Amino acid sequence: MKFSLRIWRQPSADAEGRMVTYVLDDISEDASFLEMLDVLNEQLIAEGEDPVAFDHDCREGICGACSLVIDGQPHGPQAATTTCQLHMRKFKDGDLIDIEPWRAGAFPVVRDLVVDRTAFDRIIQAGGYISAPTGTAPEAHSVPVPKQDADAAFTAAACIGCGACVAACPNGSGMLFMAAKVAHLGLMPQGQPERHTRVLGMVAEHDASGFGGCTNAGECSAACPKEIGLDVIGQLNRDFRKAAVRAA
Ligand code: SF4
Ligand code: FES
Repeated sequence: MKFSLRIWRQPSADAEGRMVTYVLDDISEDASFLEMLDVLNEQLIAEGEDPVAFDHDCREGICGACSLVIDGQPHGPQAATTTCQLHMRKFKDGDLIDIEPWRAGAFPVVRDLVVDRTAFDRIIQAGGYISAPTGTAPEAHSVPVPKQDADAAFTAAACIGCGACVAACPNGSGMLFMAAKVAHLGLMPQGQPERHTRVLGMVAEHDASGFGGCTNAGECSAACPKEIGLDVIGQLNRDFRKAAVRAA
């Protein structure tokens, strides 16, 4: 397959960026999107040019490292798919494809397509540890958890911290990510002792890190490769209100 790629090139955080066009004319339809970029980079290196910097790690849809806005959509045109799991057969031969980094105030560009997502780490850090003792697993029935809660917690825990929700949100809000983290611990018995301090700490760090507020646009959930639902934001809001009243 043949493709023209318009890629955001930016040598450093402070430098100006611009879209640069490249042409690839021998890409397998079975290549993943990142493998297609690997081919481009091999070509650029052979020509003595700087390769395009982009984030990736597992290439199996589980680590959340890959992070490209493809034709205006975080992770590209296929729903519920990370960039690394997107294949070139989803495009048409001869397509012109725009490739940009996540665009959000809290995720500054480091180089080319790589952004700094340490703001997510700060939110997790602000949530703190749980005080439940660790060690060997307790007997399964010693702490009963309703099946509905266990399933909801598991669904929320599927968040891989990729940041597509932030990139898709018109406000650059990190609410879906933060709500997934708040929900998955808040639904489990082990998460109860710090439930209120956790949500207050995370929300304060979210706002301090420059993420925008949520206006229920819903773009976050639509872009999420793990299909985290907007219901977790409702849970976050309820937990936050209760915690704020207790702290007052
Ligand atoms: S909520 Fe979805 S889009 Fe946002 S960081 Fe988690 S997995 Fe990525
Ligand atoms: S590289 Fe790990 S999720 Fe894409």
